[in-house]
Amino acid sequence: MMLLQVIIMTWVIGVILISQMAASAAVAAAPMAKPNCPDRCGDVEIPYPFGTSKGCYLDQNYFINCTNDSSGKTRRPMYENVFLLNISLEGHFEFSGYPASECYNKSGTLMDEMFYFVTTFGSISYTQNVFVAVGCDTIAYLNATQNDGTFSMGCMSVCQDTNDVANGSCSGIGCCQVEIPKGLRNFSFQARSFSRHKGVWKFNPCSYAFVVKKDTFRFSTKYLHGLDMDDSTFPIMVMDWGIRDETCEFARAKSDILCGENSTCYDPDNGYGYRCRCNPGYGGNPYLPDGCQDINECQSGNNCMHPELCKNTMGNYTCSCTKWYRGDGRKDGTGCDVNLPLLIKMVVGIGTALLMLLVGCFGVYWGLKRRNLIKLKGKFFQQNGGLMLQQRLSNHQGSMEPVRIFNAKELEKATNNYDKSRILGQGGNGTVYRGVLIENIVVAIKRSKIADQNQIEQFINEVIVLTQTNHRNVVKLLGCCLETEVPLLVYEFITNGTLSDHLHDKNKSSLLSWEKRLKIATEAAGALAYLHFETSIPIIHRDVKTANILLDDNHTAKVADFGASRLIPLDHTRLTTLVQGTFGYLDPEYLCSGQLTEKSDVYSFGVVLAELLTGEKAISLDRAESEKNLSTYFISALKDGRLLEIIEGNIIKEGNVEEVKEVSCIAKRCLSIKGEDRPTMKVVAMELEGLRIMEKHSHGKSDLYREQTECSLNAITSYLSLDDGIANPSTSTTIDSMGDQVPKSTIVCR
Ligand SMILES: *[C@@H]1O[C@H](CO)[C@@H](O)[C@H](O)[C@H]1NC(C)=O
Ligand SMILES: *[C@@H]1O[C@H](CO)[C@@H](O)[C@H](O)[C@H]1NC(C)=O
Ligand SMILES: *[C@@H]1O[C@H](CO)[C@@H](O)[C@H](O)[C@H]1NC(C)=O
Ligand SMILES: *[C@@H]1O[C@H](CO)[C@@H](O)[C@H](O)[C@H]1NC(C)=O
Ligand SMILES: *[C@@H]1O[C@H](CO)[C@@H](O)[C@H](O)[C@H]1NC(C)=O
Ligand SMILES: *[C@@H]1O[C@H](CO)[C@@H](O)[C@H](O)[C@H]1NC(C)=O
Ligand SMILES: *[C@@H]1O[C@H](CO)[C@@H](O)[C@H](O)[C@H]1NC(C)=O
Ligand SMILES: *[C@@H]1O[C@H](CO)[C@@H](O)[C@H](O)[C@H]1NC(C)=O
Ligand SMILES: *[C@@H]1O[C@H](CO)[C@@H](O)[C@H](O)[C@H]1NC(C)=O
Repeated sequence: MMLLQVIIMTWVIGVILISQMAASAAVAAAPMAKPNCPDRCGDVEIPYPFGTSKGCYLDQNYFINCTNDSSGKTRRPMYENVFLLNISLEGHFEFSGYPASECYNKSGTLMDEMFYFVTTFGSISYTQNVFVAVGCDTIAYLNATQNDGTFSMGCMSVCQDTNDVANGSCSGIGCCQVEIPKGLRNFSFQARSFSRHKGVWKFNPCSYAFVVKKDTFRFSTKYLHGLDMDDSTFPIMVMDWGIRDETCEFARAKSDILCGENSTCYDPDNGYGYRCRCNPGYGGNPYLPDGCQDINECQSGNNCMHPELCKNTMGNYTCSCTKWYRGDGRKDGTGCDVNLPLLIKMVVGIGTALLMLLVGCFGVYWGLKRRNLIKLKGKFFQQNGGLMLQQRLSNHQGSMEPVRIFNAKELEKATNNYDKSRILGQGGNGTVYRGVLIENIVVAIKRSKIADQNQIEQFINEVIVLTQTNHRNVVKLLGCCLETEVPLLVYEFITNGTLSDHLHDKNKSSLLSWEKRLKIATEAAGALAYLHFETSIPIIHRDVKTANILLDDNHTAKVADFGASRLIPLDHTRLTTLVQGTFGYLDPEYLCSGQLTEKSDVYSFGVVLAELLTGEKAISLDRAESEKNLSTYFISALKDGRLLEIIEGNIIKEGNVEEVKEVSCIAKRCLSIKGEDRPTMKVVAMELEGLRIMEKHSHGKSDLYREQTECSLNAITSYLSLDDGIANPSTSTTIDSMGDQVPKSTIVCR
């Protein structure tokens, strides 16, 4: 818009400038005659080399006798015996000549005859004259010298009657007219008759011949009666003149060339001498010693598009177009035109400036936006508990591997902008996506749900907890991202899904052999024991369930989802918190008292064991109301001696009844209402480990049909360390020997 305005404005200014035209000025007259010499005679200008008085002309050939006319009132220039009418510096002079004639009386006697000689130094102009004969019984001769030889030409005119004759026509009837050849000098002409005008005498007694300037003579029939001239100057003749009878070259060689400064000598095409001509841009009389004078072209005013633009120079002039215009400014040249390139340059300049301004603005805008973004990221970082994390991490320094901080972009790219197809699962705390990092590492990215303060704390918890741990059966945290609105956690990718999936999917559960179940149970128990006893600060998972136990391709268990976990400060073994967990797995004691101990995890793990044994869900509405909870269902079945009825069919088929009973026994103890009655995770882990070792040794030996109401527990007590300080195993453990080398104890479950 602005650009357009600029263009229109300059265009308007241009139109105004162009339309201003100044009046023309007169040209100053240059001298024509020598100084102190009259330059005219009467009406006729006499330029040098001609002159009227001594010292004013070049030589006798150029003398003009300026005489009084017959009335004595006006002066007329006379050359030889003719009156000069005009002298031009282009090399012509005009004079009034006479016609040649021949007249007869009625009886054919020659009454009067005139012929005419012109013996001047010049040549008759062949371009400006014609030779004319008038009469009805007429032949006219023109004799001359041409190239130093004699020359003769003629023109004949005949007619019988005036009716044959037409006004204005000189085609040989009453009048004849011919062109004059080049280079004729010292010429004479004459009119004659064939038969002395007999037969035409009545209307034409005379023959006439004359040389006349073209277009100054128009034939009329009345001339046949007698050529009484209306005008005393008739007929006007034109002569070509030159300087001396020599060429430019010859004159230059003699170095008395007459051509003055800024003039050029040339040899005329019609015969006599050389001539001088002013150079272009100069004017005046080239034969004068001062030569030609510069013409002030600017005074004429019409050379430039605008008179003010004109500047005279020697021999030329310049016109300068004003600002925004270009061209030579001449009317005969290109004139002035809007300077498009300049305009374009300007427009481009302004455009560039605007563009730069725009870019600048954008830059500032972008900068501000970026700053805002950084601010926002900072805000998110803060909101997402970055500071809390920093603080917490600094409290636990040294005990952990550094957490990699991912940036938001990196993770966006890894998850294909959190594409739905990448969702692995949706948990209580957020959505888990499958992501591929730039390094081609497959990871699981947990995106927290809309962050409220509570969840942020959980998130931070998880980071802290996981950075505290390094166990093969605990999901490894690779890093986190705090820049986004919702915090993101990056885990190692566990390929095979959750234990819950495997247990409750019919196709998968059939593949889950007893051996695998025992392995998973053992590993999960080991991981929990590790969390409870072997980390620098004990960790209570608080949300142990099959959905939080992941399996990899080898069915290795990985405990995950530490969102609800708690670190227990060393001097506290109990923690009062808001009750949190998953129904079906929730420790009833904790539910009632709100007192959190690691035994809550033990209870939950008991449910997991029951789930592993029965393949039932932790909570199922398919069961009787009182047995909705798997724990009560399991315990009551165990009490009623219906254990084998509720065990997953495949396990029974595998024939591991003894071990199933052992594990059921562990589960039962874990599910004790009182936390005190439950074993520690360490004990559980040990016992399960012991069973696994036993299983390897005694596989296939157990008796499927051996009914036993007691469960016995095998444990490798040598690995047991009961005074852990943190763990408070209140359950008395009797140790059953499994062989000679291993002490054995038996526990009776009721
Ligand atoms: C000029 O012409 C006049 C009259 O025709 C004559 O008397 C006079 O002598 C002429 N002068 C010259 C210098 O020939
Ligand atoms: C021409 O006429 C003027 C007066 O008109 C006179 O003074 C002069 O002497 C005359 N010149 C000649 C050459 O007759
Ligand atoms: C003399 O001749 C020039 C051109 O040849 C013409 O412009 C000028 O009018 C003529 N002057 C007279 C007095 O005839
Ligand atoms: C013509 O001129 C001659 C000689 O002068 C004369 O004898 C004759 O009578 C003239 N004729 C006429 C018709 O006048
Ligand atoms: C011109 O030449 C013709 C033929 O040569 C001759 O008859 C005539 O007398 C000559 N006229 C003049 C004026 O010399
Ligand atoms: C030719 O013109 C003249 C006047 O200039 C006139 O008297 C005459 O009758 C004209 N002749 C013809 C044939 O028209
Ligand atoms: C022209 O005639 C004059 C005088 O009769 C003479 O002096 C001159 O040489 C002649 N010029 C030519 C070119 O015949
Ligand atoms: C002739 O022209 C040249 C260049 O154009 C210039 O320098 C010189 O002054 C001119 N001479 C005169 C007398 O004007
Ligand atoms: C005057 O200048 C213009 C342009 O500079 C040029 O075209 C022209 O030939 C020049 N004229 C003369 C007489 O030098």
